[in-house]
Amino acid sequence: MSETRPDVKNLHVVDGPLSQHKLAVLRDERTRTPDFRQAMKELALIMVAEATRSMPTRPVSIRTPLTETEVEEISGPVCLVPVLRAGLGMLDGALALLPTATVGFMGLQRDEETALPVEYYVNLPSNLDEYLVLVLDPMLATGGSLSATIDKLKEEGATWISCLHAVAAVPGVERLTREHPDVTFYAAAVDPELDDRSFIVPGLGDAGDRLYGTL
Ligand code: PRP
Repeated sequence: MSETRPDVKNLHVVDGPLSQHKLAVLRDERTRTPDFRQAMKELALIMVAEATRSMPTRPVSIRTPLTETEVEEISGPVCLVPVLRAGLGMLDGALALLPTATVGFMGLQRDEETALPVEYYVNLPSNLDEYLVLVLDPMLATGGSLSATIDKLKEEGATWISCLHAVAAVPGVERLTREHPDVTFYAAAVDPELDDRSFIVPGLGDAGDRLYGTL
């Protein structure tokens, strides 16, 4: 598949064989809801593993069955923020790796006529400045929903934000990396364009509808 990669340092394309295999399942129009949901969960695991590489750790002394040794534990809290609805498809996978993470919610719906995001529910923890905030949304299309989400998170004090996507489109990536150069973006693929309904092409269709059977 042809892929365009904008040359921006705060975008990481997670393109190993495992992520590409999960993405292949997600892109295939024959994949039905249960398998789509499972592949999204598994892709989220892979994306979280990548996006937490820069997390701080602290040394801890323990005993193995053989001797005393020093090991590393993750230090510092994580807040997962799924963008409703489709981001919920990544939440269980993320929580499987980060079971003690706090979860905040951003409810946004793209207006089908204008493609602009409309906020309908927000529930975020206080003290967001203390967290590594991981935003979960399978699709970064025009970037309107993600831009509104990041603006809100920053208003609430977040200073360390990473965003995890299955597919990001070039127009959305260009907008977000310009507007938020302090935020890091992870995507399993970068697709070249949007169609006249602002759907990502080739993309994987409407992630929320495919996750929840509302096609
Ligand atoms: C989709 C997707 C993103 C957004 C991307 O959600 O999950 O949140 O659109 O588009 P953008 O980058 O142009 O803003 P949608 O509004 O369809 O809601 P849903 O998840 O409830 O289906």
